[in-house]
Amino acid sequence: MSQTIPFQYPERIKLAQTPTPLEKMTRLSEKFGVEIFFKRDDYTGTELSGNKVRKLEFILQHAVGMGADTVITCGGAQSNHCRATAFAAKRLGLKSVLLLRTPNPEQPPAPEGNILLDCLADATIIWITPEQYQQRDRYFAWQAEELVAKGACPYIIPEGGSTALGSWGYVATVEELTSDVAQLDDPAAVSTTVISAVGSGGTTSGLVLGNKLFAADFRMVGVNVCDDKDYFQKVIGTIINDFQDKYLEQPIATTADIEILDGYVGRGYALSQPQELEAIRDLARLEGVVLDPVYTGKAYYAMISELEKNPECFGPRIIFLHTGGLFGLFSVADQMAELL
Ligand SMILES: Cc1ncc(COP(=O)(O)O)c(C=O)c1O
Repeated sequence: MSQTIPFQYPERIKLAQTPTPLEKMTRLSEKFGVEIFFKRDDYTGTELSGNKVRKLEFILQHAVGMGADTVITCGGAQSNHCRATAFAAKRLGLKSVLLLRTPNPEQPPAPEGNILLDCLADATIIWITPEQYQQRDRYFAWQAEELVAKGACPYIIPEGGSTALGSWGYVATVEELTSDVAQLDDPAAVSTTVISAVGSGGTTSGLVLGNKLFAADFRMVGVNVCDDKDYFQKVIGTIINDFQDKYLEQPIATTADIEILDGYVGRGYALSQPQELEAIRDLARLEGVVLDPVYTGKAYYAMISELEKNPECFGPRIIFLHTGGLFGLFSVADQMAELL
């Protein structure tokens, strides 16, 4: 067993309802013959629900400390991160500007799901194409310049809040998980695998770093919902290195610590296959838990598909990190309705 490493959390603003519960999925566990728990990070709030608010606690503290009055961030049309940012900004009396990706900005998607909530929170939405999104740093800079020219004080939050600072949110989650696991019947005798969705990498970077800092000895498995394993090894590796440079005396993690389960992107980012939606439906009916189609639904489908092939592949105990995203389900209502 490795040693815990001394460190200090940066300051944060309390925004998330934490600690979140760890709940055993009894029927699902019976089905696969392994213990399956859900860490309910979908309970971190209502408007702020999901994983992003944990990162925002640290990021927005920094923004407020810098005197910001407006936050600028970006994401896909149904971005949970953008919705959480828009509402967290309101809680702090700030404005928000969201760069949202859509194939044709002339005809943006209907205000459903997260988009409806973004509008409700009075976020300024700027629709950009996927090609423009590739150059989002330039769009960030332009927006910031415009705001400064109007006398505002903008603060840029990179995609998904997936930065070294944002990673602290999931370092803190590992601290919670270690105490959750300590309360189980046989905490030490059973190895634990934590499974989560990977979209922009900051949740996984925090989990990997927290695992080392708290000597938790969990196996951390991230399921990519876009791009591929090589891409995320690089992205997450960069966030981890940046974190280590900024906050630690010496490195504690390398890319070898980043385990990505690839092969479940399916039709592509935010595009669902019937078997993924069926898995969401079946879990709702088995355990009364709702997943989202873009992140948790894909990660969950990956988990059960692997368990179907080999029930022992993740060891005797699994913690599935439910990172939220419920509002995204309403944007696939038609597809889902066919399966009900
Ligand atoms: C609901 C949900 N789960 C998981 C993720 C993935 O987290 P990360 O972007 O930190 O990889 C995201 C965002 O991308 C999300 O919105």
